This record gives sequence, C-alpha cells and structure tokens, in this order.
Amino acid sequence: MLAGRCAAREGRYLLVGGGATSNLCRLTAAAASLVGLDCIVLHNAPDTPENRERSFLNRLFGAELRFIGAVDESQRNAALAEAAAELVRQGRKPYIVGDPVLGAMGYVRAAFELHEQSQREEAPIRHVFLAGSMGPTEAGFIFGNALLGHPFQVHLVSVEYERAELEEHVRRIYEGLRDRTGLDVAPLDAAPPQYHMEHLGGGWGVPTPASEAAILAFARTEGILIEHVYTAKTCAGFVEALTEGRIAVGEPACVIHTGGTAALFSQFGSFRTVT
Ligand SMILES: Cc1ncc(COP(=O)(O)O)c(C=O)c1O
Repeated sequence: MLAGRCAAREGRYLLVGGGATSNLCRLTAAAASLVGLDCIVLHNAPDTPENRERSFLNRLFGAELRFIGAVDESQRNAALAEAAAELVRQGRKPYIVGDPVLGAMGYVRAAFELHEQSQREEAPIRHVFLAGSMGPTEAGFIFGNALLGHPFQVHLVSVEYERAELEEHVRRIYEGLRDRTGLDVAPLDAAPPQYHMEHLGGGWGVPTPASEAAILAFARTEGILIEHVYTAKTCAGFVEALTEGRIAVGEPACVIHTGGTAALFSQFGSFRTVT
C-alpha cells in the first residue's frame, strides 16, 4: 500500500527470469509492488542500453534487474536457483515465479469470469480464441471450460510451436491441474481445442503480413493495441475464422487479450507499412 511495506513482508522476495521484453517479468514486478514484496528480475540478455530500455517498466515497478547474458533457459533457471539460495543464506525468503500448473489456475478462473460475463450480458459466447504457446494460459482456460461443462469451443492459434509440441504442452499442464486439484474433470480429449497453425509463420516473435494487418485493423478500427508475438497472431486467426465464415456474422465470440502491449515499442522497426 502507499503507506509503505508491511513489516511481515520484509525480506520476502519474488524472483523471476525472462528476456528483456518478458511479459511475465513485467507482471511479476508489478504484482510484487502491489503486495509489497521485493522483486529480482533475471534477464537472460546482455546488459545493453537497448535492453535496459526494454526492461524500463520493471525498474519503474521497483524491481532489481540482473542481466545475466544471452544464456539458455536451463542456465537461466540455474541462475534463478542460485539467486534464491543466496537469499536464503542471507536469512531472506525467496519464491521463484514460474510454476506452469499454479500459473494455469489463474486462467481456470478466467473461464469462469468469461462465462459469468457472457451469461450476464446475454451474449452466449461459443468460440474463444487464445494464443497457443507454452501452455499454462491455454490449459487453465480449457480446464475451467471443462469444469463449466464445456460451454466454449476453445481455439488455440499457435505462435510458438508446431502442433504436436503445442498439444503436448497443453496436455501436460491439463493433467497437472487434474493431479494438483484432485478434481474429477473430463479428460482433455472429451472436448479438445481446435489448433490453428496457419499464423505461426517464421515462429515466435517473427511478424507476418497477417499479424501486421491485425495490429493495424485493431488499432485503427477499435482503438485496441495488440502486438506481433502473441495477440496479433491470435487476432489474425480470429479474423480469418470470421472472414471464412467459420464463425457466423453476429455470433458472439471472444479473443482473450493476454496483454504484452509494452512489447510493441521494441517491435517498432518490424512494421512495413507504419514508419
Ligand atoms: C502476452 C502473452 N500472451 C500469451 C502468452 C502465452 O502464454 P502461455 O505461456 O501460458 O502459453 C504469453 C507468454 O509469455 C504472453 O506474454
């Protein structure tokens, strides 16, 4: 709270790792400031003025930044474990953010929230589009949908992996949710998501003509910002389903905007039609 940190939270740290534009890092830094915890962000990126600029919002939220160079994910995880161990040696209490099953639980609630809204607004949404990536968001939403009795047809627009790998990520986390909650939920295959692979293009973070078109269309007709890595490809998949008539005109449908807007500033150079 604005009055200052609660004494009971002194010495408690959130640790998180990711690239300089990582949305997870930014959200963790913001959440830490909200609940009065200290936050350390490890960026697996070189310490350059450009990367410091990309990570500026994390500093604004009060996080301590550590640039550990362009290491891979396992080296970054080892660095996080070491940073946590060091804090423990100092008598502090660290928590490493990044458990995919726990993270997925947020999106279980998102399914309930969307369902409640769609009932309240008397707009019975059937089709829901999400970015298909590492899996927690998708598996959480699909698990929530299963708990609700499958009111939604979930569409996953892959932005990172080929289909088999994406399916594997979603399945593993879905099963993790079943194990961890102990709930008797239908298996994933009872109502599988539809996978859309046509917007993956050159892979994670590589813009496509359709992602650029979606960014411009949403900005210039709706005043909504989406970005190349996650939301623009997802919206491009949604627009395609509309234009091909797979979703009927006037049928209530939803694209979940998962955020990431700040990443647009680092994508400035990738636009072909906006300078
Ligand atoms: C803005 C945004 N949307 C969607 C995703 C995909 O989420 P998940 O890793 O749960 O598949 C991410 C992941 O970093 C993200 O940053």
